[in-house]
Amino acid sequence: MSDIWSVETKTLATNAEAVMRNGNIYQIANGYMGYRGTLDEYGRSELVAITLAGIFDRVGEAWREPVNAPNGGYTKIAVDGQALSTLTSSVSSHHQTLALRNAIFGRKTSFALGGKRVTIASERFLSAAEPHLGVIRYSISSDRDADIVLETGIDGDIWDLNGPHLPKLSAEMHGDTLVVAGITHEMGKCVAVAESAAIGFGLEHHRVDGNRNLRVVSFKAEAGKTYSFSKYFAVCTAADARDKTVPETAIAVVRMAKAQGFDLCLSAHNEVWAAKWAQSDVIIEGDDEAQHALRYSIFQLLIVAPVDGSGNSIPARALSGQVYKGAVFWDTEMFMFPFFLHTCPQKAAELLRYRIRTLDGARRKALTEGAGFRGAFYAWESQETGDDVCTYFNIGDPLTKRELRTHFRDKQVHISGDVAIAMWEYFKLTGDDSILLEGGAEVILECARFYYSYAYFKKEKNRYEILDVIGPDEYHERVNNNAFTNVVARTTFEIASQTALYLAETHPKAFKDLVQKIAITQELPLFAEAARLLFVPEPNPENGLIEQFDGYFSLRNVPVEELKSQRIHPDEYLGAGQGLAVPTQVIKQADVVMMLSLFKERYPTAIKRANWEYYEPRTEHGSSLSACAYAMVAAEFENLEFAYKYFLKTARLDLDAKYKVYVGTVFMSGSHPAANGGAWMTAVFGFGGVNANAEQVTISPRLYKSWRSLHFKLTYKGDSFDIHITHDSVAVMAEASNQQTRRFCIWGQTALSIPGKRVIIDRAEKVA
Ligand code: BGC
Repeated sequence: MSDIWSVETKTLATNAEAVMRNGNIYQIANGYMGYRGTLDEYGRSELVAITLAGIFDRVGEAWREPVNAPNGGYTKIAVDGQALSTLTSSVSSHHQTLALRNAIFGRKTSFALGGKRVTIASERFLSAAEPHLGVIRYSISSDRDADIVLETGIDGDIWDLNGPHLPKLSAEMHGDTLVVAGITHEMGKCVAVAESAAIGFGLEHHRVDGNRNLRVVSFKAEAGKTYSFSKYFAVCTAADARDKTVPETAIAVVRMAKAQGFDLCLSAHNEVWAAKWAQSDVIIEGDDEAQHALRYSIFQLLIVAPVDGSGNSIPARALSGQVYKGAVFWDTEMFMFPFFLHTCPQKAAELLRYRIRTLDGARRKALTEGAGFRGAFYAWESQETGDDVCTYFNIGDPLTKRELRTHFRDKQVHISGDVAIAMWEYFKLTGDDSILLEGGAEVILECARFYYSYAYFKKEKNRYEILDVIGPDEYHERVNNNAFTNVVARTTFEIASQTALYLAETHPKAFKDLVQKIAITQELPLFAEAARLLFVPEPNPENGLIEQFDGYFSLRNVPVEELKSQRIHPDEYLGAGQGLAVPTQVIKQADVVMMLSLFKERYPTAIKRANWEYYEPRTEHGSSLSACAYAMVAAEFENLEFAYKYFLKTARLDLDAKYKVYVGTVFMSGSHPAANGGAWMTAVFGFGGVNANAEQVTISPRLYKSWRSLHFKLTYKGDSFDIHITHDSVAVMAEASNQQTRRFCIWGQTALSIPGKRVIIDRAEKVA
């Protein structure tokens, strides 16, 4: 590895699969849009896409998905009449890089053309300071004189899974600015891209070529001279236009950027990036591989964090394309949210605002799903309104080509509690009740109300049960009393009662208004009762095992590999009606172990170990959400070799991009922000042993043997701490601007962290 702050390759991707995987690995994004890691001259067949956050469209009966904007980064050259492309021309060298420090994608390619060597190089970034803006610097040189035709502009012919979403593109030139605009099918929303370039050489003219709006520049390149230019593009949608039309809004952004020039745009961008890393980097001394993979994972989260005030969240495949319909899953609250909560709470709040904004969608779903329920049943796959876009037939069978009925949408009820828990965690760890007052309390109460209407009261057992659900393990559908789901539901009842109590005491007026608004007075005492009487599968007193759901232990016990060897097709789905895993104990992903990792304070280490040892050999890890849960729990009972192996598996997932591309017949490729969040959690919670609650921050480190130290920043209750862990000591440095002395518990010892002071606890003190 040449540099742990970059990703690079000198191998040119020449087949479609490698181009697709590189598009994921080298993507850049700025929360507003993601730009796949494709080369300047690429088009639709190479899966070029600029995927936008928060704007969706549906064409006919196909799946609704995010809109991809026309590619304002397009540039291609022809030398002596021959168009250059890495895919068709003779390439003598290629080098592409992704700078993690500031999300700059770069490439340099030399072509051998009948005795000439022509080199093109470019760098691009999506501005972290101006979310609509993309900036590119492009240069050309030839070792002999050459006739060059450069075309650069906006390419409207872009990759879509279920598009095109902007069917009739208009191509215009406004002064020196190119504009391509279109209107989405479903909602008639305008998307416009403007482009401007400062090209100081050759003869320029304007050409519209199909869906491409281009400036074409012809020039005679002198041997050895480099011809460089900067170009700027801006993407705006109907949601961004205030006092101007959408195209005018985009034009204003590029004109402003062009007037500032490349260097100023870059320094504004770099400044934001420097602040991001200062808040969220994790430094592992002694292990470059782990460091690189973890940094890449953190980078992936930083590039997709929603723009402040956008009310957007992070989809399961982030902004790497339209896979998974650009939808938000529980992945966000359970796997990504903790990173933001502990490093950048304002982004965590933004993620929660998205759920507040989509509460009505969750209410609609509760009313209309199955027999109809009360409260908020959040979408399994959520877009901008919160209505569920998960279809009842969500997976295709590669053998029969038939769609399989899956119950992710109607039975994966833990989603509501996942959202409610995140709301409460935010309040607990920041001490900031603004999110509760902005609608978070309403979300929590409505989620509790949903579970109350979903649960059954079994009179003869004097307990509530939750029947007919899917837990995190999607291979077992329609099960009863899934341990994870029941604990999540019980927790939701508990926090609903705590929320009501807190608001009644501290914000009586807001509480009264809320109770009136959602007419919940009579139900509130029922939540407390449900929390008490809800059945939760407990560890068996003899062996400590928790049954994943009623009857799980009676299923056939088949080794995972043996089961997989029975597949007829490699992409065959193991769950749904007839799936191979259904009658067996083989599970798709961490379920009981996910529960043990999420509710770590409720279960002793021995129970964690017993269940981990039982469930791990039965887990296929068929979801990118699985490995980190097993890694974190393994770290708790000090199986550090396993924890490390699965940490790397999670952290390297997107870097290696060797994941499955199809599940059944559904294309799944793209980035995995939940795994990225899982990598951060495994480093900080797993190896760092950090566990914050409303009273204190506990740190019980168990560093991996090759790690000399682990160093990171933590935000807790609005204060910021620099934590430095070695095998023998933990140092906590409180920032001078911290408001209060905070309590830490390190290796079982209480340590008070005073603003501006460092406190060091040695491991020996614990032993003594
Ligand atoms: C997993 C879900 C996850 C979804 C999106 C599925 O394969 O089973 O738990 O939410 O992918 O990442």
